[in-house]
Amino acid sequence: MDIEQLTQTIGEIEAGVAAALSDAADVDACRRLETGFLGKDGTLGSLIARIREYPSQQRGEVGKLINAAKGRVKAAIAGRQAELEKIRDAAESASATDFDPTLPGACEPMGSVHPVTAVQWEVERIFERLGFSVECGPEMETEHYNFEALNVPASHPARDMQDTFWLTNGMLLRTQTSPVQIRAMEKFGAPLRVIVPGRCFRYETLDASHENTFHQVEGLMVDRDISIPNLVAMAKTLLGEVMHREVKLRIRPGFFPFVEPGIEIDMNCQICDGAGCATCKKSGWIEVLPCGMVHPKVLIAGGIDPDEYTGFAFGLGLTRLAMMKYGIRDIRVLNAGDLRPLVATRRFGQPLIASYR
Ligand code: DAH
Repeated sequence: MDIEQLTQTIGEIEAGVAAALSDAADVDACRRLETGFLGKDGTLGSLIARIREYPSQQRGEVGKLINAAKGRVKAAIAGRQAELEKIRDAAESASATDFDPTLPGACEPMGSVHPVTAVQWEVERIFERLGFSVECGPEMETEHYNFEALNVPASHPARDMQDTFWLTNGMLLRTQTSPVQIRAMEKFGAPLRVIVPGRCFRYETLDASHENTFHQVEGLMVDRDISIPNLVAMAKTLLGEVMHREVKLRIRPGFFPFVEPGIEIDMNCQICDGAGCATCKKSGWIEVLPCGMVHPKVLIAGGIDPDEYTGFAFGLGLTRLAMMKYGIRDIRVLNAGDLRPLVATRRFGQPLIASYR
């Protein structure tokens, strides 16, 4: 091939490069062209090996021709590669422009309320709607309020029902929220509607259903002509609303010195739906609402005339209700700093602390 033919061949190769480059769809295709045209075995690269075929006085010129062509092809490929890189980057940032930095960020949920707190708030709202006010009382109580004024004198066998933490100052950790019944009657007189959510303490051996620290909600309604149907209607409203479905109730006689008659209201077990499970001890029922008509002696202790007023009272087991509602089978996890029950309130769509109230 003389120099003229060589120049023509080089021209053809360069035209092929230009055509191939305009067809190249992406950066990788450009890289493949580079190897194909410039590599040792490539179209242009292999010409170098043929310099030897030329007479020595022409080799310098042939070398220059080929090297110049190589330089141009290299530059053309690099130019196209840069162009394709730009197109690729623009496409990537175009899809990123769906992001609008002016929109408020998506809030990560920060946490959730404890199941007992969640149910307490719910119970408070239900009773506030029914015209009850929410009171609280001291956790360190006197024997008078916790027992005597509630018709449980020192010698009464009912004291054995509530193993008590006695304090060295002669007081005790309240075993129930019932003492606040007396405090509320003293403070407000009759008629009266209060609930008292709060912590109670008993000297219990811990197991899946017993804790030494648990929550109750005491309720007290005193007015003229209050009777058991008022109490049952209230129980049905309360439990149905907390469980967000109609519940079945079972009413049994019960004994508590501060009410006469005393009643136990049971609810169909929400864990097994009444079929019988470990939580309801195979009975299908769960005791949730011990209650009754306020004993005349208790009204008198609270400064209310039992000939003029009657009332009902109840002591809702809040901890047990929370366990039922959220399917928590072991009471001990609730006070143990265990995070799993918190997931329960989130799963059930309970409002988060920040957005509640
Ligand atoms: N204080 C009782 C307890 O802790 C529960 C209770 C029962 C409260 C009957 C009441 C009531 O107000 O009327 O076991």
